[in-house]
Amino acid sequence: MCGIIGIVGKEDVAERLLDGLKRLEYRGYDSAGIATVFDGAIERRRAEGKLGNLARELRDEPLPGTIGIAHTRWATHGAPTTANAHPHATREVALVHNGIIENFKQLREELIARGRHFDSQTDTEVVAHLVSERIEQGASPEEAVRDVLPRLHGAFALAILFRAHPDLLIGARLGSPLVVGYGDGETYLGSDALALAPLTQKIAYLEEGDWVVITRTSAQIFDRDNNPVERPVTVSGVSGAMIDKGNHRHFMAKEIYEQPVVVAQTLRSYLRRMENQVSLPDMDFDLGQVKRVTIVACGTSFYAGLVAKYWFEKFARVPVDIDVASEFRYRDPVLEPGGLALFISQSGETADTLAALRHAKAQSQIIAVVVNVPTSSMAREADLLLPTHAGPEIGVASTKAFTCQLAVLAALAANLARANGRLSAEEEAEIVWHLSEAPAAMNQALSHDAEIEAMAHLVAHARDVLYLGRGPDYPMALEGALKLKEISYIHAEGYAAGEMKHGPIALIDDNVPVIVIAPSGPLFEKTVSNMQEVQARGGKVVLISDAEGIAQAGEGCMATIEMPKVHPLIAPLVYAVPVQLLAYHVAVAKGTDVDQPRNLAKSVTVE
Ligand code: M6R
Repeated sequence: MCGIIGIVGKEDVAERLLDGLKRLEYRGYDSAGIATVFDGAIERRRAEGKLGNLARELRDEPLPGTIGIAHTRWATHGAPTTANAHPHATREVALVHNGIIENFKQLREELIARGRHFDSQTDTEVVAHLVSERIEQGASPEEAVRDVLPRLHGAFALAILFRAHPDLLIGARLGSPLVVGYGDGETYLGSDALALAPLTQKIAYLEEGDWVVITRTSAQIFDRDNNPVERPVTVSGVSGAMIDKGNHRHFMAKEIYEQPVVVAQTLRSYLRRMENQVSLPDMDFDLGQVKRVTIVACGTSFYAGLVAKYWFEKFARVPVDIDVASEFRYRDPVLEPGGLALFISQSGETADTLAALRHAKAQSQIIAVVVNVPTSSMAREADLLLPTHAGPEIGVASTKAFTCQLAVLAALAANLARANGRLSAEEEAEIVWHLSEAPAAMNQALSHDAEIEAMAHLVAHARDVLYLGRGPDYPMALEGALKLKEISYIHAEGYAAGEMKHGPIALIDDNVPVIVIAPSGPLFEKTVSNMQEVQARGGKVVLISDAEGIAQAGEGCMATIEMPKVHPLIAPLVYAVPVQLLAYHVAVAKGTDVDQPRNLAKSVTVE
């Protein structure tokens, strides 16, 4: 999604702004721009496409100035053209915006009627005109912003630059995150702490409705009622150095390889190995009293939730409802007061999930959040915060955040089961033991990387690919298909293996590879029967299973990928690895932009 960075600095800022934008690239964008104030005028450079184009513009026409704002834009209103790229500007102000101004049409008509001229099709430009209008009427920057903010409906993070005030920036947030960074004689605005990591570690997170006036040496924050407020300054854990690809060609590959370590790191917070117990952070409600769990998330995080549904129902016998966040509140779900609503998100900022969280809160649900960014909006609004410790995930395709989510959800399932009297001490010890085995098993799964790379060509030429799984492997089939389509642009669908014969089997021919995820175990025979139905119709199968499964059913498959034999509880964590690697190598073979696939954003902060 769009990214913001602003600097009120001691030295020229354009280079540093461009650097900051590079750190925001992972969020996904399709144009970018920078504005500074120099010699009493606002100057802009903007470009369509990748940051290289903007860098070229800056090389051809450098942008001096010690104050500036910059933006990567993920198009919502208006095509990704240079004219629609931010910053949007009038003579008096320039601004960058994340989010959507929902009432922009009405505001635009109003402004046009007053004689204002628009240069873009964006929703954002209305804000530049509204603020500019007030400045032209003689208002100070603070007065202008204070007057305009209540007129904006929707979601926004804004950074605003003023021609006549080359020592001041104003930021505002509602629905989209914005942070203030405190430097040495400099002050910054950023859409996240990551963007500011090389500049400063001292960060204050604006609350909903806050706006802030920053100068080189100060930041005055106001709440939505315009009262001056203090927001705690925290030391962000992200360092500039953390964000590189190491020895890997892509962030995605690096993140796939990090999984054994980060899953182990995450499990350390949820397992007491010495006592053979699972444990959760302190909570002020009784988990044993939870009669129903509602899980809400988007994309890959939703699939982690779907795996958790199997676990919560199997181990704790607690009924689970699960929704994609964009559907949840609009179907007006029945939520009994005191139910547990569980939100899963890597970023903690996904607009649909955050809106669903607030909806559930208003319906008196206890809010639990599994989240990778501990300072995110969701983390801050949770009653029970269950962090994953995956570290920053840069690849747009989620990998390590997913397996860390699974690790936390498995621990939560065991806690729920214990609280419900459904888990003996011996069973709990067994779960602890199996979960502790997961990182090593994931390492073993990674050792098949070269084999998977070698078979990528079997899939790379396909137009359609199907993924099949049963039980907790069904969400893994959905996840496999999502991974493949988002980074290789090959159409892929995941199905519950048993559902094939109710329609999708009509798609089978020898051009449609079918990836079957089937660890040996109680559901294996059933999945193999479905796989044979595919083979009987000329379907070409790639079987992902363990040695036992492959010995039993591997014959006649186009290829097999052997996983270590693991307990069914940890199978989703281990089988995530080949599924990710296959998508990765197919995308590399196709030459797509693996880390920043077209049209996608890392964190989707608009509805
Ligand atoms: O940050 P979140 O976990 O809330 O994001 C949810 C989805 O946008 C995300 O999982 C998306 O589907 C990924 N690109 C999948 O790889």
